Amino acid sequence: MDFTIHQVTWHDAEPLLREVREAVFMREQGVSAELEWDGLDENAQHVLAVSDTGQAIGCGRILPNSHIGRIAVLPAWRGKKVGTALLQALLAYAQSRHFPEVDLDAQVQALPFYRNLGFAEEGEVFLDAGIPHRKMRLKL
Ligand SMILES: CC(C)(COP(=O)(O)OP(=O)(O)OC[C@H]1O[C@@H](n2cnc3c(N)ncnc32)[C@H](O)[C@@H]1OP(=O)(O)O)[C@@H](O)C(=O)NCCC(=O)NCCS
Repeated sequence: MDFTIHQVTWHDAEPLLREVREAVFMREQGVSAELEWDGLDENAQHVLAVSDTGQAIGCGRILPNSHIGRIAVLPAWRGKKVGTALLQALLAYAQSRHFPEVDLDAQVQALPFYRNLGFAEEGEVFLDAGIPHRKMRLKL
């Protein structure tokens, strides 16, 4: 089971990015279409993980204000470092744009995942789409 990570635009990869986010955020986690499709995708840089059989298995994005989000890996592919590779690709993009830091709103169950890559929590737990989150930041 191998995979590759691709830097993509919304224009080029919209159907594949939608497929992963619909499976993970909307069907698995119950996020509404209204909240998931927030109008920020066109101006974001996206990353897409593709399996060696050509299936879209994971994704993520970074906004022009250096906010990372929408990191998702299909259940069958979790625990195989796909999420780590997606996040590393977003960090490489941020560094190439000379962003001094990046931030994200982590679902609390995913805090250890982001800590592994050096992110630190700040502030209190808050609800977004009914899911507990915490702000995290990484200086580059
Ligand atoms: C969170 C998510 C993106 C992680 O992707 P992944 O490919 O499974 O993560 P990796 O295999 O790269 O994990 C790296 C490390 O993070 C940690 N980790 C990953 N997911 C975790 C979780 N849900 N809870 C606790 N630790 C986790 C593990 O310690 C893992 O280290 P290990 O392999 O040495 O055990 C994935 O579980 C997912 O899509 N979850 C549902 C959507 C979601 O919650 N997205 C995050 C929104 S903030």
